[in-house]
Amino acid sequence: MATTASPRGEALVRRLGADVIVDYTKEAFETALKDYDGAFDLVGGDTLARSFAVVKPGGLVVSLAGAPEPTTARKDLGRPGLVPLFWLASLGPRLRGLGRKVRYRYLFMHPSGSDLADLARRIDDGAIEVVIDRIVPFAQIGEAFAHLESGHAKGKIVVRMLD
Ligand SMILES: NC(=O)c1ccc[n+]([C@@H]2O[C@H](COP(=O)([O-])OP(=O)(O)OC[C@H]3O[C@@H](n4cnc5c(N)ncnc54)[C@H](OP(=O)(O)O)[C@@H]3O)[C@@H](O)[C@H]2O)c1
Repeated sequence: MATTASPRGEALVRRLGADVIVDYTKEAFETALKDYDGAFDLVGGDTLARSFAVVKPGGLVVSLAGAPEPTTARKDLGRPGLVPLFWLASLGPRLRGLGRKVRYRYLFMHPSGSDLADLARRIDDGAIEVVIDRIVPFAQIGEAFAHLESGHAKGKIVVRMLD
């Protein structure tokens, strides 16, 4: 598995299982990585557009930060009325994928008790590690959001409601 990281995150992603790490502050990842089965984009924009170049034909690009597409409306949201809007919104990545025979999907997080129970089991088993950047008291929630918005948090920020 390959991933991008800056030197700030390199030790963390290596510990989490990355075999290949591309420093995104110095190198364009699509020149270093080729022919992967899939790519998972957490950044969107230009990073999403470039992700198609690292995936082989028949593969899949999934984005958490790009545009929702028609399957998001039909399957994930159960709102077929949104198909035309999402079709238009995702035209860029879908056309990019069509040219390379790579599918595009948007990952939409939605509340699900059974998914959370499954995640909790995997965390208890040690299959998933929860990475916590920091734990802050409620009084410091403003600073915590500012840190999150900086785009450089390393994992989750937990807010303590009671001291
Ligand atoms: N679709 C959904 O339902 C859904 C749900 C939740 C979140 N999201 C979206 O998912 C995205 C990711 O959120 P997140 O909570 O994981 O955190 P985030 O705060 O966006 O990501 C922080 C991490 O990304 C690294 N990073 C920043 N720019 C990068 C780049 N150009 N290339 C590679 N790595 C980069 C930073 O590393 P360095 O500090 O080392 O630079 C930092 O470790 C956000 O856009 C969020 O809005 C979507």
